[in-house]
Amino acid sequence: MTFPYRITVCDSTAQLVQKIIDFLEVRLRERVSGKHVKPFGLATGRTMEPIYSALVERLKSWPNNDLNKLLDDWISFNLDEYLGLKDGDSRSFRSYMERTIGVPLDLNSSKLRIPYGQAQDPHKEASSYLDDLLSFGGLSFQLLGLGLNGHIGFNEPPSGPEDSCRVVTLSSATFKQNAFSFGGDQDIVPRKAITLGMKEILAAEEVHLIVIGKEKSSILYELFCSKCSDQIPASWLRNHQKVFLWADSAAYEKVQVFINH
Ligand code: GLP
Repeated sequence: MTFPYRITVCDSTAQLVQKIIDFLEVRLRERVSGKHVKPFGLATGRTMEPIYSALVERLKSWPNNDLNKLLDDWISFNLDEYLGLKDGDSRSFRSYMERTIGVPLDLNSSKLRIPYGQAQDPHKEASSYLDDLLSFGGLSFQLLGLGLNGHIGFNEPPSGPEDSCRVVTLSSATFKQNAFSFGGDQDIVPRKAITLGMKEILAAEEVHLIVIGKEKSSILYELFCSKCSDQIPASWLRNHQKVFLWADSAAYEKVQVFINH
């Protein structure tokens, strides 16, 4: 097993983003030409913001026919959503996706699937979200950010490869990491969320793990050096055949030192 399948490291975030977009564009063109018909798996977070903005810009340079075909056929599934935020709350992942992709590309909301964080019965919502994804045959490519505690989506430690889409309780490391969207106040970050599970992520045809910034360098190093463990949910990616790692030099620094020795 080769982990990762391919590594791309760039000194600057801007360079890295362009390389990611070049690659995604190939996948999206394949989609337009009828290959890779399964939905895309999308993530939120600060890491994805420059990527979505560059993606929108790139797509707007496509010929109209191609772009319209892509948008007509578009179905993406987001990884996760907080529970309990009101409809339209700017801090919800639904709002994030509308802001970054939906509005700029004029995509109908229903094409951007995201768990409904106001559902009366969140467990039922998680199960119907999963059914919806499975009805499309699962994910083609999955974009992933990385939590400082090794979470992916909201699969907090401990999470294992058989964990499926479900309601989860967030860890204190995650309140801290995500407090930036809540005016820096970790006390008001919702405590619960719905997340796709490791199982659905690991079943994606291709995974793109994107890691930016020095603060992620220790957890990325652990991914490389530790065995698969529920305590570092992202470590289960080691069992996936096709994980592309995209990192900037700052995030990759500790791995680089490890590889050089
Ligand atoms: C969040 C999200 C993840 C995201 C990750 C990284 O909590 N649930 O889907 O990828 O943590 O966030 P960031 O890119 O802001 O560091």
